Amino acid sequence: MNRLMSWPEPVVRVQSLSENGIGTIPDRYIKPISDRPALKSEIHDHLEVPVIDLQNLFGKDPALHQETSRRISSACRDWGFFQVVNHGVSHELMKRTRAVWRDFFELPLEVKQQYANSPSTYEGYGSRLGIEKGAILDWSDYFFLNYLPVTLRNQSKWPAQPVSCRELVAKYGAQVTKLCGRLLKAMSINLELKEDYLQNAFGGDEMGACLRANFYPKCPQPELTLGLSSHSDPGAITILLPDPDVAGLQVRKGGKWITVKPFPNAFIVNVGDQIQVLSNANYKSVEHRVIVNSEKDRVSLAFFYNPKSDLLIEPAKELVNEDRPALYKPMTYDEYRLYIRMNGPCGKTQIESMKSNR
Ligand code: OGA
Ligand code: NI
Repeated sequence: MNRLMSWPEPVVRVQSLSENGIGTIPDRYIKPISDRPALKSEIHDHLEVPVIDLQNLFGKDPALHQETSRRISSACRDWGFFQVVNHGVSHELMKRTRAVWRDFFELPLEVKQQYANSPSTYEGYGSRLGIEKGAILDWSDYFFLNYLPVTLRNQSKWPAQPVSCRELVAKYGAQVTKLCGRLLKAMSINLELKEDYLQNAFGGDEMGACLRANFYPKCPQPELTLGLSSHSDPGAITILLPDPDVAGLQVRKGGKWITVKPFPNAFIVNVGDQIQVLSNANYKSVEHRVIVNSEKDRVSLAFFYNPKSDLLIEPAKELVNEDRPALYKPMTYDEYRLYIRMNGPCGKTQIESMKSNR
């Protein structure tokens, strides 16, 4: 575990590179040609991820409720990604929380450096994911914090500046956690499981949650690099608050990429690897990545809702039968996330490597 105590080489803040006004990016950020974002033939122009109105989810009108569930069900099966509106989280709170993180990243470097993180817990200000020496890096900085379980919530590790940051994050986390609970319930029912199934299988009230505020600085050569390399999210579900003014997130669909157009006041929801495991691949996590641009920097907030870290996660017995045997071996989330912590983002190689040979 000692390897995880510190980064393998000095950390460079991408924001400082960007602000230095360099015209070319350092080699460390140049992706192999096959991973670069530019190729037009690889982009779906006309497809868009579904936008789902949650107003009537669990509402009084059973027909409207069913219609909403049905839309969530097809989005989970066909896409693994969707946007939600009328999701119950205050629009004002969303705006203020994103703004406070933008203000954080605009603070002087010395202030942010006080929160410099290490790969042991990731908490704090960071500029890379994996610990492989010499790895090609992504064009982004981030701040990572633990929100749940409460025993891991340590507000003294959250930014003390801007002064409203801690309070906003606490409120935001509470409302987004509720949304996660409703979505897990809808997914459980759609999978013909008991409504509390997924939440309970992931640890009930002891589920984990963390927030990563992503900062993607302007980039002088956006065609050569990525803000975040292709990956699927390792946890249960992710609730992303994108930058309303700057597109950047791309989702993989049938071998091509779709650039998500942020819908006003919506969250972007995606299925993580642990739902793929529990649902025995009825739902699949989907690869996504972030592109950058030379005009505007971009701030997004990713809220990850994760299994309790020491529980064994395995395909639900109800979804395993002779025709569809269990596709994955049981594994704790602690074990699972070590992989991304060592290797950084690498598409769906991790979950693929977990397939059981039965
Ligand atoms: C992530 C992620 C997308 C974005 O943080 O895991 O996929 O748009 N973020 O920042
Ligand atoms: Ni992601």
